Formats: sequence, structure tokens, C-alpha cells
Amino acid sequence: MQIKKAVIPAAGLGTRFLPITKSVPKELLPILDRPMLQYVVEEAAEAGVEEVIIVTARGKESIAAYFHPRPELEQRLSETGATELLDSIRHVSSMAEVSFVIQEQPLGLGHAVLTAREAVGDEPFVVILPDDIIDHQPGVISQMLEVSAQYEGGVIAVEQVPWEVIHNYGVVDAEDRGNRTHFVKGLVEKPAREDSPSNLSIVGRYILPPEIFDCLEQTPPGTKGEIQLTDGIQLLLEERDVFAYEFRGTRHDGGTPMGLLRASLEYGLTREDTRDAVSALITGLSTKMAGS
Ligand code: G1P
Repeated sequence: MQIKKAVIPAAGLGTRFLPITKSVPKELLPILDRPMLQYVVEEAAEAGVEEVIIVTARGKESIAAYFHPRPELEQRLSETGATELLDSIRHVSSMAEVSFVIQEQPLGLGHAVLTAREAVGDEPFVVILPDDIIDHQPGVISQMLEVSAQYEGGVIAVEQVPWEVIHNYGVVDAEDRGNRTHFVKGLVEKPAREDSPSNLSIVGRYILPPEIFDCLEQTPPGTKGEIQLTDGIQLLLEERDVFAYEFRGTRHDGGTPMGLLRASLEYGLTREDTRDAVSALITGLSTKMAGS
């Protein structure tokens, strides 16, 4: 199935990153030299997505600025022969067509997705949460498109997590269908460990049919008093099949300072231009730790 549009919710306050998020949106915090947001836009573009709809909030205008061309900077870099840097900034504005919708009130992830209804229209689309950064080739959206081509219906990325942390996630109740794929029978947002139907946690990648919008219109506030995407998908089950897919790749939690630091180190170790320096840095630090 060809999916042309992606919705990226980026309207949150980023409280776990205060005070930096007083003035810098969480989604623009970097892993090495690129903002988290760029990794997920690249993942969408690699999967053939042509249009990215970013749901943002007032005060986060620098997100739009990041995707605008900067002709005077390009000219300067071109004059000084900094071609690699020039390519890197041109790449940002050419990855996909990027548009923005504003979520006026922080009413939850489901509400943020609903805000993009008009921009998406009547076609299936993907939702990508930008603080779930997943390192793999092919990317998770590409992997999920293969699943949706095999089974007609929505697809949600999941991974098994230790039961002690299950209360931090949406969770699926699902029946194993082999090939890393499960048929979803129910979903619950942030259950207590004893109430959780499984330890298959939802990770921020979804392929959804447009019927989800009517479901979200009918979804009452749930966990934290917010309209949850998980609850909207539960309603969708009444009319559509939904599958959970255990993706290949390592998920980094870009939603916390430690997760982001770890992501920077791991990406640094895989990137050719930084591998040796990051490896020396880690070795140096562990020697220092062992000596203290
Ligand atoms: C959101 C979703 C949750 C999912 C998680 C993955 O929660 O509501 O179902 O498991 O993302 O990162 P949040 O982390 O925004 O609280």
C-alpha cells in the first residue's frame, strides 16, 4: 500500500526537558548534530511518504523555521566551499513537503491527531511520535508498510518491555499470528502492571485508516484526562482489523535527557565520521570511572 502522508505530533510542552524547553522545542533537541525530528522525517521519506503534517503549538515556531530554506546561509556556505554543510542544510528542506497545523489546546495525543484531519483527508496515513527514535535499515515505517500490504487493516508498532515499566506505555491485548505480527483484540493506555493484558508496549509508529478520525471524535478523555490515541484505536477495532508488529531495530527514548544522551552515543558509534572519536570518549570515561 502506498501511503503519502505522515502526521507528526509535536505540540507537547516537553516538561521532562525543562528548563531547555522554555525556549527550544523538545523535537529540535539534537542527537549528535541533527534534531530528533529530522530522524523521523527521514524515516517517513524513506518509506515513500511525500507530505509530512506536523501538529505543533503556539510558541514552537522554530520548528517551522527549521524546515525553511535559508538562502543567505546557503550562499555563504557555497562561497566558502563548505559543500558538505551546504548539502546537509539543503537536504532538510528537500526531504518531504512539510506543513503545519496548530493544536490550540493540549487535550492529548488523540486530539493532536484529530487536529490533522483536514490536512490528511480521506486516505490512510502514518503517525510518528518524534521522541521514539528507532535505528534500523529499512526504517520501521517501511517494515510496517510490508505488514499492511499482507494484512488489510491498521498496523501499530510494538515491543516487549519489562513488566515493571509497562505502566508508562499503551499496551495491546493481542493474538500471535507469526512473523512478528499479532492480531489486536484490545488496547489500554498506561495500565497498572496487574491490569495489563500483556507486556507488548505501543511504540510511536502507527498506520491508520481515515476512519480513525470519526473514532477520535467520539473518544472521551481517558488517562490523565486527555483524549488518547490508544482509546481511539480501541473504538476503531469495531470496524477495522488492527495488527501489532514487533519491529526490527533499537528504540531510543528521546523523551528523556538520559535516553537522548544514550541515543547520541549509540548513533555516534554507528556513524562513520564520529565512530572513532565516540569510542575513544567512552573508553576514556570508563577508565576515569574505574580509577575514581
Ligand atoms: C504515547 C502513547 C503510548 C505509547 C507511547 C510510546 O505516550 O500514548 O500509548 O506507548 O507514546 O512512546 P506518551 O509517551 O506520550 O505518554
